[in-house]
Amino acid sequence: MSEYRLTVLPGDGTGREVIAEARRIIEVFEEHSPLSFDITEIPCGGQYFLETGEEWPEGSFEHCRDNSDAILLGAIGWPGARLSNGDLAGGQVILGLRSGLDLFANIRPVKLYDGVQHKVHGVHTNVWDPDLVDMVFVRENTEGLYHSLLRRSAQRAVGAKDDPIMIDGFPGLDGEVSWDPRPISRAGSERVIRFAFEIAKRRQSRMGIPQKVTCVDKSNVLRGCRLFRKVFNEVSEQYEDIESNEAYIDAFTMWLVRDPEDLDVIVLPNMFGDIATDLASVLQGGMGMAASANIGDEHMLFEPVHGSSPKYAGLNKVNPIAAISSVHLMFDSLGARHGDADAIMCADILEKAIANHLADGGAVTYDLGGTASTSEVGQAIAERCAVLLPEKFASA
Ligand code: IPM
Ligand code: MN
Repeated sequence: MSEYRLTVLPGDGTGREVIAEARRIIEVFEEHSPLSFDITEIPCGGQYFLETGEEWPEGSFEHCRDNSDAILLGAIGWPGARLSNGDLAGGQVILGLRSGLDLFANIRPVKLYDGVQHKVHGVHTNVWDPDLVDMVFVRENTEGLYHSLLRRSAQRAVGAKDDPIMIDGFPGLDGEVSWDPRPISRAGSERVIRFAFEIAKRRQSRMGIPQKVTCVDKSNVLRGCRLFRKVFNEVSEQYEDIESNEAYIDAFTMWLVRDPEDLDVIVLPNMFGDIATDLASVLQGGMGMAASANIGDEHMLFEPVHGSSPKYAGLNKVNPIAAISSVHLMFDSLGARHGDADAIMCADILEKAIANHLADGGAVTYDLGGTASTSEVGQAIAERCAVLLPEKFASA
């Protein structure tokens, strides 16, 4: 019996609706497997800020830091919800946790499931080729172009004052100038690149097919990227069994769409990872399918990659599969971290339930060409889990 402390942060808009479906899935696993969760749900985000003047209740950051084995987040961001300094209201939650808990690796799998309509290779079809799209992005999550915003957000979370950035001016630029520094460190690069190689190693042994790690940067132009690439080359030498490859971000975007079957694990600096993963989600059926894990040495946070989609909020319309797949990543990561074979088994069962649901033409939302509601999809996948689980955990 493994019990984990789980903090749930539904956040804004449709984040709340997809988190309700994620919780429905978790309940089924609690009922039919040895997994159990001690859940604390905390309101937060831009809407909460508009109502209360706070991004989340006092002590929430500390709860996430001190009392959580895992955190599950819906979405942050609401029209008009801005702090007085112009930053995103709710940033303390998503960015404050990424930085404050040192969640340095943002893992974003991109996998096309059988039965999902796609347009890979220019054909709009349901026909699935298992080798076409199955890759994992590893986005650096604590520095780069996000560094100062991440630090500001994390400092707010522990009640400290903003750290002002000193600007001496930029020769040749007149008038009002704004800028975001983009520091990239050796240590920050090394840990995330190593993480990417470890993912490739685990995939190679689980899938039984050779895996390649591709470093994506702009090292022909940017100094920070030159360091990132240099560290990549050093680390790759320590993984003789894993192939490595390199690409510049501009050419990579073309390559990603044109030849997705060439990609396995991709490691890239923060902002490039933010942009490339939205693009890559198209290959898996859209943002409604895109799940993520934010992993550090001590903490882990899981979230769908999509935002709060205000125009669909409250309509029970959006796809909950990204949130449900984030629960799959949570089971898998808890299992790997705690050496918990039951949690890994639960992850595999949940992934199978999602895959079977899609392959069998189960209910899907509008983004996948269906007419089902958020809760109908959640319910249907939960029912599949309830059938699959007793086969594995007869006595649970
Ligand atoms: C993401 C989001 C966030 C980011 C926003 C909401 C701050 O776009 O998780 O990709 O830019 O990282
Ligand atoms: Mn993004």
